[in-house]
Amino acid sequence: MPNWLKDAVFYEIYPQSFYDTNGDGIGDIPGIIAKLDYIKDLGCNALWINPCYDSPFKDAGYDVRDYLKIAPRYGTNEDMYRLFETAHSKGIHVLLDLVPGHTSEEHEWFKASGREARNKYSDRYIWTDFWISGIAGHPYIGGECERNGTYMLNFFKCQPALNYGFFNPTEKWQKSYKDPACVATQDALMDVMRFWLDNGCDGFRVDMADSLVKDDDKDKTGTCSIWRRIREMLDKDYPEAALVSEWSNPKQAINSAGFHMDFYLDHVENGYNTLLRDYETWGGTKEDHSFFKKDGDGDVGRFLKDYLPKYEATKKKGYISFITCNHDTPRATNTLDESELKVAYATLLTLPGVPFIYYGDEIGMRYIKDIATKEGGYTRTGTRTPMQWDDSANCGFSTAEPEQLYLPIDAEGPTVKAQAERKDSLYNAVRDVLKIRHENPSLAADASFEVIKGDKDSLFIYKRGELTIVVNTRTEARKMAVPKLNVNPMSGKPGKVEPVYTIGDVNFDGTTLTMPPQSFAIFKKA
Ligand code: GLC
Ligand code: CA
Repeated sequence: MPNWLKDAVFYEIYPQSFYDTNGDGIGDIPGIIAKLDYIKDLGCNALWINPCYDSPFKDAGYDVRDYLKIAPRYGTNEDMYRLFETAHSKGIHVLLDLVPGHTSEEHEWFKASGREARNKYSDRYIWTDFWISGIAGHPYIGGECERNGTYMLNFFKCQPALNYGFFNPTEKWQKSYKDPACVATQDALMDVMRFWLDNGCDGFRVDMADSLVKDDDKDKTGTCSIWRRIREMLDKDYPEAALVSEWSNPKQAINSAGFHMDFYLDHVENGYNTLLRDYETWGGTKEDHSFFKKDGDGDVGRFLKDYLPKYEATKKKGYISFITCNHDTPRATNTLDESELKVAYATLLTLPGVPFIYYGDEIGMRYIKDIATKEGGYTRTGTRTPMQWDDSANCGFSTAEPEQLYLPIDAEGPTVKAQAERKDSLYNAVRDVLKIRHENPSLAADASFEVIKGDKDSLFIYKRGELTIVVNTRTEARKMAVPKLNVNPMSGKPGKVEPVYTIGDVNFDGTTLTMPPQSFAIFKKA
């Protein structure tokens, strides 16, 4: 287990929307390098960069045409190596996005595999043996290649599934995941990983990590066995490299597949949405019952019921990663205002595990509902607009003409400059909490976690090592006799004791704690 993860706080960068240095309207790698000090100053010491490989960009780069080449619109491989180096010199680790389940239909492997004459890549993708065929439950495409067969997709039409085999082949064209042809796909993936690790990358966020072996059993036995093999390679040759999975089943991803971290995501049934997005995610009208909604009636118990068993089962082996959002999710500003977000992010950033902040969430960038789809983004596009730095043209994102920008600026939205200048802003709350997180080993990813109060109520109280954290999410102030609630944040000595950090006008006089509306406090034992 890489030791650096204990104190890691990630910043997710959508490269096309972060910072443009050559005025073409698209963010680039030199732009990331230019903003490393901003990221470091915010309190993040690790990056996850969304795919930046050569691609036709039909799924914003998740359709990889060449795994070993940086997309020219972002720069060159040398730029990326320079990013690794510069980041390391500032104590920042860098994860790239690994897309193992599929490539672009324009990848050379796929082109070769679609040829009628057998070749090295004939089995690299999942092909049936007749031009009009397929099996139920999987999308297949025919009519695109000279080969007499159809091929299976993993996501969009432009993303044919790489062949890691089937758990239990039932048709003669299906191969077992143990078949040498399928093991060759694993080897090819491991070559890609080695290439970037050898050039200075610190690991990978793994896209659709659970999708490798088709018709796998319920425990994902086949897929887990592949990741365990990959983890063995890392443990042996790259022990400081880290893997985080898009899986959202920590028991499988961490305990069985060997990932160091697994995301706690919004698009599967779990407790995450009950915190920030308890409404029908994509354009739904359901009333919001999120715990962090001040006028909602959500309760943290629903989250804990889902999370705690997962935490207990995995805490010795890896970390569950909370996200503020990601490039697939509506930004939490969709329904939460700044006062709600401050409390929400302060809480997420003081829970166990390794947290991820999506670029712009630290300043409360807005989810833009009515925006034209871009590069396969559809309803996700509103979460992918350019970072808003200052009050110069295009909010400092780019010097291009506004119509040249990758996506439009949110003219009404926040900027880093304005947020940094206002003392009680979301940005300053995130920055302060991260500072405290790095200063206190009690807030490390692996430090202990104990829930003191987490039932159907607006109060959530938990202990991390020697710290006690109290959260009030609603519009009513709450008073509590501290000993009775078993908080005992300080020594219990009489007299006024100051908490180490607060959001809101928190008051503790030695016996009674008053938590004003939407407040957050961290206490340290005297
Ligand atoms: C993951 C990515 C998403 C992409 C899909 C296909 O869910 O996060 O953005 O479209 O996989 O690669
Ligand atoms: Ca650019």
